[in-house]
Amino acid sequence: MGSTLNVVVSNHELAREVLKEKDQHLADRFRDRSTALFSRDGQDLIWADYGAHYVKVRKVCMVELFSPKRLEALRPIREDEVTAMVHSIYNDCTAQGEALTLRKYLGTVAFNNITRLAYGKRFINSQGVIDKQGEQLRSIFSEGMKIVAPLDTLEHIPWLRWMFPLNEKAFAKNEARRNRFTHEIMEEHARASHTPGGKTQQHFCDALVALKDKYDLSNDTIVVLLWDMITAGKDAIAISVEWAMAELVRNPRVLAKAREELDRVVGGERVMSEEDFSRLPYLQCVVKEALRLHPPTPLMLPHRAGAHVRVGGYDLPKGTVVHVNVWAVARDPEVWENPLEFRPERFLESDVDMKGHDFRLLPFGAGRRVCPGAQLGIYLVASMVGNLVHHFEWESKAEIDMRENPGIVTYMKTPLEAVATPRLPDILYKRIPAPI
Ligand code: HEM
Repeated sequence: MGSTLNVVVSNHELAREVLKEKDQHLADRFRDRSTALFSRDGQDLIWADYGAHYVKVRKVCMVELFSPKRLEALRPIREDEVTAMVHSIYNDCTAQGEALTLRKYLGTVAFNNITRLAYGKRFINSQGVIDKQGEQLRSIFSEGMKIVAPLDTLEHIPWLRWMFPLNEKAFAKNEARRNRFTHEIMEEHARASHTPGGKTQQHFCDALVALKDKYDLSNDTIVVLLWDMITAGKDAIAISVEWAMAELVRNPRVLAKAREELDRVVGGERVMSEEDFSRLPYLQCVVKEALRLHPPTPLMLPHRAGAHVRVGGYDLPKGTVVHVNVWAVARDPEVWENPLEFRPERFLESDVDMKGHDFRLLPFGAGRRVCPGAQLGIYLVASMVGNLVHHFEWESKAEIDMRENPGIVTYMKTPLEAVATPRLPDILYKRIPAPI
């Protein structure tokens, strides 16, 4: 019925063929009507086809924005936001032991982190109140959610689309708001760097303006790149941590073992920091196991054949849309023992890379389009899970609903609710603000 050929790849051998051996012919993106309008038909990074523009902006990301040096320089922001999360959960813990909805806190950390990293701004104050600019940003997002095409399937059946015409004017208005918002922030940064004593910071916004000439970036390109970072980063982190915590709460043995490691390595007199990661191998395995069972983008993002290509012995004509089902690959009983069991020890017994080198585990994809924010994502997820486990006892009053809410990103269908009980000295629940 549809007119786009869609192929879903669900085992690690075919995933390797798509993302490694035939990667160069399968690195374009499929854009539905909404993503085409949002990205001005691929003028950004996420939705761009593989070509000169893509190679340039991808290089800016990999070499400049996500370089180990910059990630390290931005570490105080991540640690500040994680302590802020702990602080607000602590404040909301009641003597009656009422359950908290974790997603609210996780969403705030992810949002604050990403806006501070990208724009150098925290739009939500320490009382949890959002400022005028933050409201503006939220309203641009929620307007964007309302105007997207209502039914994914229709995007592959062009002759039925007349039933759900898109409001192109609304897209143009949303884009204009987005651009105005980002330009305003760029101007604020420019003014700050020209004031006496003002210095250029490490945030993506400053970095991109400073790199404008080196990479021949237009203002429009900077605006869309900043927007890409915000949209790509904001959901995946909160989703991953919520699933990881759900697995921990329903697996008390694993939770106790992760906590025992934190108590042994970090102790009860200080908070965990990213510098502790290398001495917390079990925590790292917990994160990996959570991303194996619950990758936040189970079908990655849709790739498209830029030329005729053969995969698994089948001919895929130019334009074929290829989805790699990383969710199914990571649950394949052919390569995983008891795949549905949440057992982080499997990674202590045999190390498996999750950043695109081992095709059995691909939460970040692999190849040319592998997630550029993978390391940042791992730092944040590990730091959030580690601090939640170290600071609180966790318990659920009801059985946890592990069903998924289907979509390009997969939240838990029912938000996780759990009772948090503080377990460290009171002094360790304070936010430690970072002045960057
Ligand atoms: C746990 C966290 C995250 C997960 C699991 C994740 C996963 C993914 C996946 C599966 C893709 C698609 C790869 C493909 O199509 O082949 C992707 C793309 C992307 N991600 Fe992430 N991501 C995470 C966090 C982040 C963060 C924090 C950022 C930035 C702040 C980010 C930025 C991007 C961008 C810009 C792309 C598009 C890359 C391209 O098309 O070349 N991601 N991510």
